[in-house]
Amino acid sequence: MSAKDLRGYLDFLGERGCLKRVRAEVDPVLEIPEILRRVMYRRLGAVLFENVKGHPGFRVAGNIFCSLDIVREALGVERLEDIGWRLFQPLQGPPPLGLGEKLRSLGEVLGLGKYMPRRARRAGFEANVYEGSSARLAMIPAFKVWPKDGGRYLTYSLVHVRDPVKGVMNMGVYRVMIAGEREGVVHWQIHKRGQQAHQDAAERGENRIPAALVIGADPGTLLTGAMPVPYPIDKHLFAGVVRGEGLQVYRLPNGLDVPANAEIVLEGHIDLGDLREEGPYGDHFGYYDRPSRRFPTFHLERIWYRNDPIYYGSVTGKPPLEDVVIGGFAERIFLPAIQTLLPEVVDMHLPPYGVFQGMAFVSIKKRYPGHGKKVMLALMGLGQLSLTKIIVVVDHDIDVKDVNQVIWAVSSHVDPQRDVIVIPGSHMDELDPSTPTPMYGSKLGIDATRKLPEEYGGKEWPEEVKPDDATARLVTSRWREYGFE
Ligand SMILES: Cc1cc2nc3c(=O)[nH]c(=O)nc-3n(C[C@H](O)[C@H](O)[C@H](O)COP(=O)(O)O)c2cc1C
Repeated sequence: MSAKDLRGYLDFLGERGCLKRVRAEVDPVLEIPEILRRVMYRRLGAVLFENVKGHPGFRVAGNIFCSLDIVREALGVERLEDIGWRLFQPLQGPPPLGLGEKLRSLGEVLGLGKYMPRRARRAGFEANVYEGSSARLAMIPAFKVWPKDGGRYLTYSLVHVRDPVKGVMNMGVYRVMIAGEREGVVHWQIHKRGQQAHQDAAERGENRIPAALVIGADPGTLLTGAMPVPYPIDKHLFAGVVRGEGLQVYRLPNGLDVPANAEIVLEGHIDLGDLREEGPYGDHFGYYDRPSRRFPTFHLERIWYRNDPIYYGSVTGKPPLEDVVIGGFAERIFLPAIQTLLPEVVDMHLPPYGVFQGMAFVSIKKRYPGHGKKVMLALMGLGQLSLTKIIVVVDHDIDVKDVNQVIWAVSSHVDPQRDVIVIPGSHMDELDPSTPTPMYGSKLGIDATRKLPEEYGGKEWPEEVKPDDATARLVTSRWREYGFE
């Protein structure tokens, strides 16, 4: 079971020697982000800043997702894939025929009920509430991440809006630029659920939707905010799956449910007609992103926070920073979903320097001619994975986490004219700086699988070298005799 809140998680990090406490006074404007980047590049773990300039009483946590191993341990699973299997395992295998088996399988399906959100009557953040003109965003130690950023940003708030069509909760991590005492511009990108809710609400003639920005919660809930959970699965429900236990939610006066364990809650509404410029912002590609369109504005009505509140923010820049770990988490927990849709997929890896949506390596158990291209085309259309610009497909025996094995497969199996596809005029990640037409560019697929005769001019693929068994055994047994360790 996951830590019960952010402070519990920080204790857990401390017990494992992964938390550095900084007592010197530090500024959330530029200084904390620069410290966090250096700490992450040097793999020094998470940091808790206890003396934050201009924000007495607030502490600031950063780099809390410092490694996948820590995240896995905190969530209490042996493999991160096990989280995804919680949803898909009950659907695998032959359907039960006997009564006993039927009851067991029914139990597994009903067991999913334990992930459902539950209503909490009280929340720690009820301790401090500021309303109307006494609620000001300047109270929050939001970061300025890079010198030329357009302002201070909430970089990891869970933006809550209810879906106008299905009524499920959306909870996405979208950066919010502070644009006034009580206003923030919400940068939900075109392909995300927040933007979809925006369009659906606008089509229904709603111009003002209740919203809440939630800062600091247990690790499972925080991670869920950044997960590409397929619409219309409720994100609070999915947080329960990640946590291994249903999320306790508290109903705000504006009617929205938010995690009861939150450190800070900014309650208000989003005015869909109040579109404003946002940025520039130094993003995870390592460039200043200058959005080509305007985004809606969050209007603050009430600030709630726990006693001794802890603000959590993430910082961006060239990889590998914290978002690489978060991307790695998504890669692992969604593998079971991908394998359920595409059973030929053996493994998948989004290499850290591929910046999430830049590049994916996928290994498959190949069965027929064209199989490699079939898989890459499927992935190019699948959820947020479809934002991946370059997909490389390799055979099952290639370890996709070893970039050199992938390079070997590309170099020795790819005839570019036959195995490379470029899809022009395609959707792409809104932040990708490579095209002059944001959100719109091309995709590259590389089929680096070994080719079957049908793909290889009717010929057999060459035989790969390997030592004969007798020689291999002989060399193993005499290894020390040769003088090697
Ligand atoms: C630190 C961090 C910052 C992010 N900032 C944004 C952002 O500003 N806009 C955006 O659309 N997605 C952003 N993302 C990615 C989304 O959180 C991710 O795509 C998630 O799936 C969105 O939720 P949704 O699928 O429910 O829309 C960010 C992710 C991380 C880890």
